[in-house]
Amino acid sequence: MLDQIESTTKNIRSRTANFFPTVGIILGTGLGGLVKEIKIEHSIPYHEIPNFPVSTVPGHHGQLIFGDLGGKKVVAMQGRFHFYEGYTMHQITFPIRVMKALGVTTLCVSNASGGMNPNFEVGELMILNDHINFFPDNPLIGRNEDALGPRFVDMGETYKKEYIALAKVIALENKIKISEGVYVGLTGPCFETPAEYRFLARMGADAVGMSTVPEVIVAKHAGMDVFGISIITDLGIEGRTQTITHEEVQRVAHLKEPLMSLIVKELVKRI
Ligand code: HPA
Repeated sequence: MLDQIESTTKNIRSRTANFFPTVGIILGTGLGGLVKEIKIEHSIPYHEIPNFPVSTVPGHHGQLIFGDLGGKKVVAMQGRFHFYEGYTMHQITFPIRVMKALGVTTLCVSNASGGMNPNFEVGELMILNDHINFFPDNPLIGRNEDALGPRFVDMGETYKKEYIALAKVIALENKIKISEGVYVGLTGPCFETPAEYRFLARMGADAVGMSTVPEVIVAKHAGMDVFGISIITDLGIEGRTQTITHEEVQRVAHLKEPLMSLIVKELVKRI
């Protein structure tokens, strides 16, 4: 893996001249619009990057974007990789390893999720204050590369408290309703059955989705600070659950995109 990271980083460096990003962003559902706020200096399609997986989801552009956001040098993934697409945990998280090698110290991630906390409403934003890895896998399984991080990783403050407090201030200043909660990540691609929602809620999760956890685990292994934010696109709450489709998830996420983008842009500026 070290050789792959090195050759990919070398390739990217040769194409991005003296650009040294410190913040990495995964433009998941709800953050697509943030691209418009980035003063783009370079963009490289995934298929031109050695060792990078190629996105299979229609509508996911699949490129790495390098530019300025709120005065910070950022590298943003436009298009992420999901476990349900058939990628391995190592493939999904390879871009995070490359970000680290490029100099990134902070990772911002976004996603769409199903709300299970009875106080939640559709369209609400939730800051991740913790997660539960409910994937049947972990990207750190296998021989540990000590050069990349420790064998056993402390996950006591996976989502940096300082960023959570800052995001709440930004939301308040802009009159955006925001909650915080625990995100449980699982494989999908089915949405959950009513019994599964019930089970996940009782387990201690506030929202459920099919991404984020693998990337965040690797970011922590690499010693990065992490901020995560989710749009509640539907509810898995008894009596309030409606039929969910991918289109509906996208529709709700799109509506709230400007709010999520504002919070992340402002956060990146202030950290
Ligand atoms: N479950 C899993 N993933 C999701 C959901 C959900 O209800 N909504 C958006 N992504």
